Amino acid sequence: MAVIMDGIALRNRILNELKIRVDKISQKPKLVAVLVGNDPASQIYVRNKEKFAEIAGIETDVIRMPETSSTNDVISIIEKLNDDKSVNAILVQLPLPKHIDTKTVLNTVSETKDVDGFTDTNICKMFGSGNNYIIPCTPRGILEILDEYKIDVAGKNAVIIGRSDIVGKPTAMMLLQRNATVTICHSKTQNLSEYTRNADIIVAATGKIKITGDIIKPGCVLLDVGMQRDENGKLHGDCDFESCEKIAGYITPTPGGIGPMTIAGLMENVIDITEKNM
Ligand code: GUN
Repeated sequence: MAVIMDGIALRNRILNELKIRVDKISQKPKLVAVLVGNDPASQIYVRNKEKFAEIAGIETDVIRMPETSSTNDVISIIEKLNDDKSVNAILVQLPLPKHIDTKTVLNTVSETKDVDGFTDTNICKMFGSGNNYIIPCTPRGILEILDEYKIDVAGKNAVIIGRSDIVGKPTAMMLLQRNATVTICHSKTQNLSEYTRNADIIVAATGKIKITGDIIKPGCVLLDVGMQRDENGKLHGDCDFESCEKIAGYITPTPGGIGPMTIAGLMENVIDITEKNM
């Protein structure tokens, strides 16, 4: 039976440690989230971010904008936040409504306040060889939970399923930097199970697929980023927990695995950029 990786306990510990760092900063760090439209999942995520920021001693503000906002409306709000000296970190909750130019909006965020690491400048640095960049929140949470369970990925086969800008691509870069042999699979990949059966580490980040115990390698590390709801409204990941738990060496549950670690990663980024820009 796999070790179940406890994202909630680790998140709580990280937030308590951050609070100690925050208490040493003269000005309370402030995170502002920009939330455009009515996406129900985004409303929940942003509420969660507010709740856990408070535990870490971070002040938050949420700017709620109507679904009908234009790209320029969102840009003007971000420009104001860039100029506001009381704001340390800016987060644009994704996805934005379809008519909005997401790339242009994200690139408006000041490089020094880009808490998600989604500006092109930060992405370029991440793909380069230095280390002066912000690790996006979910990949950061993934690295922290690997460290917590003392899992060394060097020389291991890491298979990332999903090629999103938020999770798949940056996680691939981070694992590559830790010397894993990284493969990125996606919706057009043929014979996914050929890759998963050979994987020492699987990062499942699609919200669509179902990975079952018969297509994974015994003893592998299964990091489940997916979010799916079944017909009863119950939350699951991309993995069939019951069958995978019997085969994997380590597995993250959903809920209670990578979700809380993403929150921890965000709050660490808030404090890091606050301290860096003081
Ligand atoms: N939507 C889903 N995940 C994320 C994230 O990590 N950051 C932001 N800004 N939006 C998201």
